[in-house]
Amino acid sequence: MNRYYKVFMYGLVLTFINSACTRKIDPNVIYIGHYDSMTGSEATFGQGSYNGVKLALLELNKAGGIHGKQVQVISMDDQSKNEEARSVITRLLSRREIIAVIGGVASSRTLAAAPVAQEAQIPFVSPSSTNPRVTQIGEYVFRVCFIDPFQGWVMAKFSMEHLKAQKLAILRDVKSDYSVGLADFFKKGVKDRGGEIVSDLTYQAGDIDFKAQLTQIRSHKPDAIFIPGYYTEVGLIARQAKQLGIDVPLLGGDGWDSSKLTEIGQDAVNDSYFSNHYSQDTKDPIAQDFIRKYVELYKDIPDGLGALGYDTARILFEAMARTQDLTPEQIRDELAKTKDFIGVTGKISIDENRDAKKSAVVVKIEKGHQKMVTTIEPE
Ligand code: PHE
Repeated sequence: MNRYYKVFMYGLVLTFINSACTRKIDPNVIYIGHYDSMTGSEATFGQGSYNGVKLALLELNKAGGIHGKQVQVISMDDQSKNEEARSVITRLLSRREIIAVIGGVASSRTLAAAPVAQEAQIPFVSPSSTNPRVTQIGEYVFRVCFIDPFQGWVMAKFSMEHLKAQKLAILRDVKSDYSVGLADFFKKGVKDRGGEIVSDLTYQAGDIDFKAQLTQIRSHKPDAIFIPGYYTEVGLIARQAKQLGIDVPLLGGDGWDSSKLTEIGQDAVNDSYFSNHYSQDTKDPIAQDFIRKYVELYKDIPDGLGALGYDTARILFEAMARTQDLTPEQIRDELAKTKDFIGVTGKISIDENRDAKKSAVVVKIEKGHQKMVTTIEPE
């Protein structure tokens, strides 16, 4: 090894040790970790969600914090990459002062990251990862949203009852646990209702040309096409479907919820439908109050992720406030006891699987805007 290189490495190590030692831990502050996709293909997921978390944090600290201490959220970006989600949570949890984590949006990233929290026995709450396997990771992993068996059933029911579709096609992202799971649950829902799946094809996140699959789907003449993916690919798929003359309704799940969807898909996404956790059209006073505060702070209307991020942070803060001495174990126990919490996204009770049973809304994209069509309750 050349001498200059050695000196350089030594300097690097010293800088690292130095920054680790000077990291200030204030005994009068409670620290919580957060990571999400702030950049990359699902950047709006993390941005919306974190905005919701920060609004709840602002309100909490203004009202005096928890047990008289202010709360600080230390946030990291997973760049919309699964491996990065695992790496950032590992870094967060190497800090002993972090006693709980608010996790990310996309299910595959949560499936990569949450085992680290489970292993460390630090409570982890996902605002919006809907794949059923997420909370099966262990007793420290929670979520405040509904799960995909329900969401798939909702869209099967909606497409067959409301749109009177009988023949359905599916185009799923095989790289995404969310997409694969939701496609399967939708398929089951359609078959249970006596409908027919005429085509079930795949793509991979990052693809940009979907014409081969869409041409094949077109030849089966479906009444509607279910595309349970994330907004970046869905926007492109919608445009290419339109170019191929496909004019049946396109359907999706919560992964469509982004202002970028209409930016990418333009008018090709109009008259499509997707299931979601909340709608801006809500008449609910709690949700309206939240929308007003969010718009005031960010000059932007909250999407479902903003609403879920806000509910997640408030549920976690309330659970923490109920503990005797804020140990991760006590926080876990209190999270598990969450009952009838009145959130922006509905009434939230954590069940024995650490999931939340809630209603879903179906929205229609009309002239580039989301319009609420119906609310569907769990049976
Ligand atoms: N439910 C999606 C998943 O599990 C994430 C998502 C939730 C995206 C809400 C948008 C809105 O991957």
